[in-house]
Amino acid sequence: MNSPERDALYARPVAKIADFAFDEQVARVFADMIQRSVPGYETITSAIGLLSTRYVRPGSYCYDLGCALGAATLAMRRHLKERNCVIIAVDNSPAMLARCREIIQQAHAGIPVEIVCADIRDIKIHNASMIVLNFTLQFIPPEERLALLTKVYRGLLAGGILILSEKLAFADARQQTLHTEMHHAFKKAHGYSELEISQKRAALDKVLLPETLARHKERLQQAGFASCEVWFQYFNFASLIALK
Ligand SMILES: C[S@@+](CC[C@H](N)C(=O)[O-])C[C@H]1O[C@@H](n2cnc3c(N)ncnc32)[C@H](O)[C@@H]1O
Repeated sequence: MNSPERDALYARPVAKIADFAFDEQVARVFADMIQRSVPGYETITSAIGLLSTRYVRPGSYCYDLGCALGAATLAMRRHLKERNCVIIAVDNSPAMLARCREIIQQAHAGIPVEIVCADIRDIKIHNASMIVLNFTLQFIPPEERLALLTKVYRGLLAGGILILSEKLAFADARQQTLHTEMHHAFKKAHGYSELEISQKRAALDKVLLPETLARHKERLQQAGFASCEVWFQYFNFASLIALK
């Protein structure tokens, strides 16, 4: 992939900040934005590749739900060269998927990738050995998350894996403040200004709704996942493995 365009979407003062949307201007800079905004993003993406080697079975599907530009899809595909399986990459943003398509086509050929423009709440999931929700569930209204995770659980084969990565909230006020401030320090260290950080935060306020780790674990159990652990956390960003 060519080096991504630098994210400067919130660099200038904006009179009225609109809700964040995965539109054309975000799609252009998204690869840079997510690396400079999400602590541990590259580690998580590469671990998704490693985990695919262990979990993906011949003749099954891998789902990348909210695939954005296809980073997790590519990580899985790099590791699944000779496996007879198909990756289904789903997103409901046409702008993100247009770029995703280009990126997947440019990457070295590998197992087939089906790119689907749809709401992940509406698709059927079946015969899956691996399902990835990498920073996507946080954009689904909280009251609809259990139904989605129940569908994910039912669509997985026994022994299958869900990777769920999310921005977290904390019940303890001091922890909330600490992690929020350290996340902002991470963003500053990666070149974002105070203005960019505060304007982006305002844009995401009603769109990205983080929950506590306890809430995520409880819901995963309700959905059917008896086995679930955090395998990675960096400030208020975590990734969980849930096994069927
Ligand atoms: C933070 S990005 C995910 C990043 C991506 N998974 C990765 O690993 O690089 C969230 C993505 O979820 C998509 N999304 C949000 N709500 C969705 C929904 N209801 N159905 C499908 N895609 C959705 C957005 O369009 C966006 O591309």
